Amino acid sequence: MALSVKDMPPAPAGLTTTEAPFVEECRTRGELYIEQPYELYTPENHEAWRRLYARLWPRWEKYGNRHFLEGVETLHLHPDRIPRLEEVNRFLAPITGFQAKAVSGYIPTFLFFDSLRRREFPTTITIRHRDKLDYLPEPDIFHDVAGHVPMHTDRAFADTLARFGGCAHTAVLLAATITKQEEKLRTLTSILRAMARFFWFTVEFGLLRSRSGVCAYGSGLLSSYGELEHCIESKVVQRHPLQLEWAVNQQFEIDRYQPLLFIIESFSQLYELVDQLEEWMREGKLNNVAPGEPAINERDLQSFLEAEIGPAG
Ligand SMILES: [Fe+2]
Repeated sequence: MALSVKDMPPAPAGLTTTEAPFVEECRTRGELYIEQPYELYTPENHEAWRRLYARLWPRWEKYGNRHFLEGVETLHLHPDRIPRLEEVNRFLAPITGFQAKAVSGYIPTFLFFDSLRRREFPTTITIRHRDKLDYLPEPDIFHDVAGHVPMHTDRAFADTLARFGGCAHTAVLLAATITKQEEKLRTLTSILRAMARFFWFTVEFGLLRSRSGVCAYGSGLLSSYGELEHCIESKVVQRHPLQLEWAVNQQFEIDRYQPLLFIIESFSQLYELVDQLEEWMREGKLNNVAPGEPAINERDLQSFLEAEIGPAG
């Protein structure tokens, strides 16, 4: 007797973006930091990783920066299967102290930045559908582990990222000195917008000048097959040396190839720019950045207002 569709066992749930019951349940229970239940990945999930990796590899060699390529090698990322975070961390932690920490999804901004300060990178464990490799509004494990984590093997970059995360503490301490609630929220919104823009134009979409020309170090570029080529080759992309006053006032849109990108000379230059960012924050120069994207939501503001940090910051 033939089985009807109704009688067939359900397909394994897997850990596919927006279709991962395990992650949904964690979120329902309010768990931000979770385990990576590796056995839940389906063959289709691993196939998505394999396809993404195979497509990107030649473009990484052509457009990626050497620190990234060395990082991919150091982490022993497997071309055919989704990495286990504990294996990645075994290679990563001894080098820079960074670790990939599995999360159930969106992390309020203060907690996200504070994790960077502690050298814990909030890492998505789900992966996009194997037939939708190109555009994904939400991060997935390919973006996070293949795009971000190899950069965390570089000492200068890792120090910069942790230093940037620490600026969130300065923002909390500054906000605490403002007594009027309305003024506090307005100031904090502007500071968070400046920090989000800085992060976007560097960690996510940054370009680096190298001896062989301009290459990508931003993870949004390194994890996108189409944009990685576009960001270097396209004639319509504006590429300018990174200027702090420009980056913190520049709005951006997330659902298109970036028309404007900033180039740095080195990660030590980037570190100095983070120092400057914090100095400007203390001086009040980030209190009135240009309005516009990104929007700063209630939950992000709240995460700063409720942040518990020691007196040393
Ligand atoms: Fe990212």
